Amino acid sequence: MHEEVKHPCVQHKLALIRDKDTGHKKFRELATEITMFLCYEALKNVSLKKVKVQTPIATAQCHMIDEDIVVVPVLRAGVGMLDGILGLVPTARVGFVGIYRDEKTKLPVTYYHRLPPQTEGGLCIVIDPMLATGGSTVATLDLLKANGATTIIVVCIVTCPEGLKKVREAHPDVAVYTAAIDDRLNERKYIVPGLGDAGDRLFGTS
Ligand code: PRP
Ligand code: URA
Repeated sequence: MHEEVKHPCVQHKLALIRDKDTGHKKFRELATEITMFLCYEALKNVSLKKVKVQTPIATAQCHMIDEDIVVVPVLRAGVGMLDGILGLVPTARVGFVGIYRDEKTKLPVTYYHRLPPQTEGGLCIVIDPMLATGGSTVATLDLLKANGATTIIVVCIVTCPEGLKKVREAHPDVAVYTAAIDDRLNERKYIVPGLGDAGDRLFGTS
């Protein structure tokens, strides 16, 4: 399952983050803001528990999130989405997966992971701005499941049909939330029109 979040506020910010003239400071701010909106949508079915809250007037029957949430940014670019999701769920635990795409083969290379024990049994939310061939996302999902994760959501800023198909075929139980399903991949396996190299644009390394 996937959902393209078409809310005007998301689409407006998406236009700004795609712009080649958006510098890394603004790019980071937009990545944070878009992530908040995407995660707001992605968390719409999260479990709640009933709580009683004493207001200055009376007791209110309220609800609070009842899930152990583990956020997993894929290094490096996923770090650019971390502030956005922690703004929504500040008590979430954070695990890290380090993966880069080999420049020649375009295949994912996993070089690091450090996950909290709550990965097992918790709700895992993978954040990575780009889901291109889908190789990095599938490798992340394989790793999370090998570490006991059962309920996983992926949140990305831009994706394309090829990447979504790869993730769906490998992990049909995982829902993907995105701001854009773009046209295609180019010969260098970059998303077209996309937004370029997300890691370089976030961290000013290009
Ligand atoms: C980017 C991006 C994803 C991956 C997507 O990372 O952040 O992790 O590419 O491509 P795929 O779907 O074809 O696997 P990159 O390899 O540039 O590493 P970086 O974040 O360290 O710059
Ligand atoms: N990684 C990126 O940062 N951008 C793409 O378009 C594809 C992979």
